Amino acid sequence: MQYGYFDDLKREYVITDPRTPWPWINYLGNEDFFSLISNTAGGYSFYKDAKFRRITRYRYNNVPMDSGGKYFYIRDEDTVWNPGWKPCKTTLDAYECRHGMGYTVIRGSKNGIEAEVLCFVPLKTQAEVQKLTLRNQSGTTKKLKLFSFVEWCLWNAATDMENFQRNFSTGEVEVDGSVIYHKTEYRERRNHYAYYSVNQPVDGYDTDRETFFGLYNGFDEPQTVMDGAPRNSVAHGWSPVASHCLEINLDPGESKELVFVLGYVENAQDEKWESRNIINKDKAKATIARFDTAGKVDEAFAGLRAYWDNLLSNFNVRTPEEKLDRMVNTWNQYQCMITFCFSRSASYFESGIGRGMGFRDSNQDLIGFVHQIPERARQRIIDIASTQFPDGACYHQYQPLTKKGNNEIGQGFNDDPLWLILGTTAYIKETGDFAILDEPVPFDNVPGSEVPLFGHLTVSFDHVVNNLGPHGLPLIGRADWNDCLNLNCFSSDPDESFQTTENKTEGSKAESLMIAGLFTVYGRDYAELCKRLGRDEEAARAQKHVDAMVDAVTKSGWDGEWFLRAYDYFGNKIGSRENEEGQIFIESNGWCSMAGIGLGEGLVEKALDSVKERLDCEHGIVLNQPAYTEYHIGYGEISSYPPGYKENAGIFCHNNPWIIIGETVLGRGDRAWEYFRKICPSYTEPISDLHKVEPYVYAQMIAGKDAFRPGEAKNSWLTGTAAWNFYAVSQYILGIRPAYDRLEIDPCISPEWKTYGVTRKFRGATYHITVNNPGGKMKGVSSVIVNGKPVEGNVVPVQPAGSVCEVEVIL
Ligand code: GLC
Ligand code: GLC
Repeated sequence: MQYGYFDDLKREYVITDPRTPWPWINYLGNEDFFSLISNTAGGYSFYKDAKFRRITRYRYNNVPMDSGGKYFYIRDEDTVWNPGWKPCKTTLDAYECRHGMGYTVIRGSKNGIEAEVLCFVPLKTQAEVQKLTLRNQSGTTKKLKLFSFVEWCLWNAATDMENFQRNFSTGEVEVDGSVIYHKTEYRERRNHYAYYSVNQPVDGYDTDRETFFGLYNGFDEPQTVMDGAPRNSVAHGWSPVASHCLEINLDPGESKELVFVLGYVENAQDEKWESRNIINKDKAKATIARFDTAGKVDEAFAGLRAYWDNLLSNFNVRTPEEKLDRMVNTWNQYQCMITFCFSRSASYFESGIGRGMGFRDSNQDLIGFVHQIPERARQRIIDIASTQFPDGACYHQYQPLTKKGNNEIGQGFNDDPLWLILGTTAYIKETGDFAILDEPVPFDNVPGSEVPLFGHLTVSFDHVVNNLGPHGLPLIGRADWNDCLNLNCFSSDPDESFQTTENKTEGSKAESLMIAGLFTVYGRDYAELCKRLGRDEEAARAQKHVDAMVDAVTKSGWDGEWFLRAYDYFGNKIGSRENEEGQIFIESNGWCSMAGIGLGEGLVEKALDSVKERLDCEHGIVLNQPAYTEYHIGYGEISSYPPGYKENAGIFCHNNPWIIIGETVLGRGDRAWEYFRKICPSYTEPISDLHKVEPYVYAQMIAGKDAFRPGEAKNSWLTGTAAWNFYAVSQYILGIRPAYDRLEIDPCISPEWKTYGVTRKFRGATYHITVNNPGGKMKGVSSVIVNGKPVEGNVVPVQPAGSVCEVEVIL
């Protein structure tokens, strides 16, 4: 069953039933000011950091679900309703929510009044703008009362939820005409405030939550709205809110547009005050003035749409598959922007207080983003590398506001450093900007410790080399990519974190075959980079270590039909047919296949056939089999999940593209394509009622075959799946692959595709690429013609910036 449809021309997903099986959300903003908004207007806003600068309050996992948001209440005679159905849930005559690129439009009708709310964060603006259009489609004159509503968060989203003995006494606001200012803690150490305005004189307002709702009423029954009478309350402590009340008369056929601005301001210390206890409002007023007419809002909105059209024109495909096109051209790239912005911090599953920017996560996110805005990717690489330690180890996460490593989570995830090689080389391959390697970058953000970025790649590489175990394979540390394979944790205390506790590490023999494959792939990349830089000695040294790793995997990492997953603390095998549960795992088979280890001897083919046979199911490829059915103290969190969920035999979508890429190494385009479709949201849209989460973005996990409800997805939006799937489909299926000095064309497709086209902008030139497949092949380019002339191999040389180039490829 579906709850809406794709409007491809507008790049929108249109939700036609507000009762989606889970709140289906969108993100507004892509630089500093952000909002999350659901299809029923739930959600919240923050500035840069969802933990430290939360602007409006949200209660996660509430009853009912998705309670709290930015609401408009319309009172028409005795009927009170919301354009987005919630929170009043008054039955609407019509409802539609359109989630687009950085904006959402919610439209509802009731008793002849149509209300349409357009929400977006204009480019370069620290505010969310809401344009509300009210249309009288009835034959009679309407006298409406409109109430806006937001609830302020007292800035730190964590203490806001726990430190009530303080919080209930600190709240402060100022009301100035139609603008409500939230200035809690501004009197002391904060240099920021928030505001909520409307571009018309108001007929009343409220800023005290209890006065607005009544202590025992819910969001669906605010007392002032029910009474049709604002109280002009001014909050002192307790919970400050902002609500404007406007009386609106509409003749038949008449419509009115109102503009609301929810913004954030920072003032320098000596500019904080206008007069004693009165905040300096200059910046807020300037922003409000930029959007004080509907015309100005429309112009800003057109600017946002043009911005996205331009961004998405960098990579565009036309294939025989409409559902593939809409993912690749729009939604997958859009999701990559969102994961670039947030890493794993704020979604409807990530609370915004638990996690900052992940070292491994943010590096991987770059491979889906770097072609969009390379300059921002560049800065990100430098920010991430700055949290590394001199020995190559790194903080697992950093806080977006401070850009400093997060001590609470610490370090010790031994895959982390290698992803920096991926992020950096992906950036250079996209841009040709080798100069980034000369940028001075500190260790652990300590001034004076700077070395050229290249030095960070060297210590990343060496961190593996210096931490090898008894089989010459990489020591796993706290965990590798699989956060939940905690081989040194040995926790019997439910109050310990699996992620940060190491009860044993001294003398640990725990080694990872996943890191071994990863090291082989990115170690080779590092060696190739060294060669390009003329550092032949370093290239040879690196190659020697990579070769040794390949030997170690071949010798101690092969289980007969697939690659082992790991050795545990004691040196026993994990992911082997000798085990009772957890005999085979996806990650090591993905990475060792991508590395082509034993390709010539048939190991890759065998491994991937075993994956197909043992891990594949209707909804995707599960992580391991058989699932763990009991807690193994020596394996940690992985065995804490019931079978079929998360890292214990769930379909952890992030790693499915590793198998897809592995299949393309073998040239099995049909299989790569089959795997791709299984987890791709535009293909699972018809089973939205089972799948549950948004049909326009990837979810981290789909319940596996052992689960209670296989096929049910969770944790949508913030997942490495977005970047990896874009990378897999664009570079390995469609086969358009940026390299240091050229574009490589190496498709691996379904034999049924006869032709497809790709428009790719690359280093300032535009490439129109047509791939023809007259013989129904899966892989193997037989000829490439660039601007009418045949070229050698499957390589398109870099064209002059500004030029347009026609490429014809025949398989
Ligand atoms: C989560 C984490 C990621 C980890 C993965 C597997 O998605 O964000 O860092 O690799 O889980 O455990
Ligand atoms: C849990 C999750 C895992 C995630 C980790 C990070 O272990 O299962 O996916 O990466 O938390 O906090």
